[in-house]
Amino acid sequence: MVGAGYVGLVSGACFADLGNTVYCVDKNKDKIDLLNRNKIPIFEPGLKELIYKNYLSKRLKFTTDLRLAIKNSDIIFICVGTPTLKKSRSADLQYVFKVAHELAKSIKKFKIIVTKSTVPISTGDKIEKIISKRINKKNFEVVSNPEFLREGDAIRDFRYPDRIVVGSNSKKAFKKLRDLYDPLIKKGAKFLETNRRGAELIKYASNAFLATKITFINEIANLCEKTNVNAEDVAIGVGLDQRIGSRFLRVGPAYGGSCFPKDTKAITVTADSYKTNLSIIKSVIKSNENRKILLTKKIIKILSNKVKNKVITFLGVTFKANTDDMRDSSCLFMIPFLLKKGAKIKYYDPTGEKKEFNKHKNLTYCNSIEKACNKTDLLIIHTDWEEFKVLSFDKLYKKKKFKIYDMRNLYSIEDMRKKGFQYYSIGR
Ligand SMILES: NC(=O)c1ccc[n+]([C@@H]2O[C@H](COP(=O)([O-])OP(=O)(O)OC[C@H]3O[C@@H](n4cnc5c(N)ncnc54)[C@H](O)[C@@H]3O)[C@@H](O)[C@H]2O)c1
Repeated sequence: MVGAGYVGLVSGACFADLGNTVYCVDKNKDKIDLLNRNKIPIFEPGLKELIYKNYLSKRLKFTTDLRLAIKNSDIIFICVGTPTLKKSRSADLQYVFKVAHELAKSIKKFKIIVTKSTVPISTGDKIEKIISKRINKKNFEVVSNPEFLREGDAIRDFRYPDRIVVGSNSKKAFKKLRDLYDPLIKKGAKFLETNRRGAELIKYASNAFLATKITFINEIANLCEKTNVNAEDVAIGVGLDQRIGSRFLRVGPAYGGSCFPKDTKAITVTADSYKTNLSIIKSVIKSNENRKILLTKKIIKILSNKVKNKVITFLGVTFKANTDDMRDSSCLFMIPFLLKKGAKIKYYDPTGEKKEFNKHKNLTYCNSIEKACNKTDLLIIHTDWEEFKVLSFDKLYKKKKFKIYDMRNLYSIEDMRKKGFQYYSIGR
């Protein structure tokens, strides 16, 4: 696995657990040193135990030495990041191509090179071109095998995937990957063979569709708020239709994370370059950006338009629960905006303090929910960690009764009203 991030580490540990010998390579020496000291650089439920078990059994190894890893491997997975290029909104492929150049220098005998990173259509062709400048085409095969795991549920998603998508034109490559994934196929995972570009597009189309679903129900929630309809009922009523399905129909803040925002942008740029207008996805991106503004305006409204010197507490600042990933979290928009308006922000997150907020004044990390809620004016529940679902507001009030804005609809609106709390939620 080249790149020991969320994808490389999780899939590396899971492949090792299936009995393979896995080298996780990363150019970040600190990360590799940490892993070799049995410390995990990311938060992912169950990952620490899985890594420890397979590290002890010597099936899982961590190194910065790419040559050594390549020499000892039959299959090489590229798992490096593909963030958004600031200027063009397309995927930044510099890390992927850097790995391709490094592979070209190190391959001595036949290898299967698999792109697990999310990459635009035809990236596999480009990787092949880079490597073939130095290596005979008989000695390698470039395959696309996009990853569909979700942070927070990553190990389960790896072990019980809905499908394994493999894109190639080579029978040999299909066979190798089918063998590798055989334990998962035997448990019911579908193994879909397609061409390389097809696999690359399946990943983008899937993420764009999921982002669309979230954005769709969020817009419906906006209408619910104006018409006295409960958006939760609508989501259930719509989701029970088997053609639609209930998953990803949960109202909340703007979607974020390391995938949906960057992948929706990248697919529209790719399509534009082929003179194809993906207008639905473009509209989803815009709607999601607007949602950050919309919810911030709602916060200001809840505070009766008086934000200056008001204390606002955020419970959860990552893009969702069960991850420490801050990438494209809507908090990165909301918190700086409110600070500029003169608010004082406190936050608590189960995964600890965030370096992203270091530069801000009037922003305090609290290491407990109690401290974060003390003397606050407004409590915002931003993510749905289990510990946020059972808050005793009476006890948290102490000296001051604060307002509550629940962006995940964790509490019953009737209960909260009965108890006399000033409670606001989404689409209800
Ligand atoms: N995070 C997710 O939930 C998820 C899910 C599915 C797919 N993906 C895709 O998988 C890819 C990786 O995502 P991630 O979240 O794991 O990224 P990440 O940023 O967590 O990890 C990438 C790692 O690659 C390393 N790296 C970069 N260049 C390298 C090189 N030349 N040699 C060795 N290591 C190198 C970095 O140091 C980093 O540790 C992206 O394309 C992403 O879109 C991510």
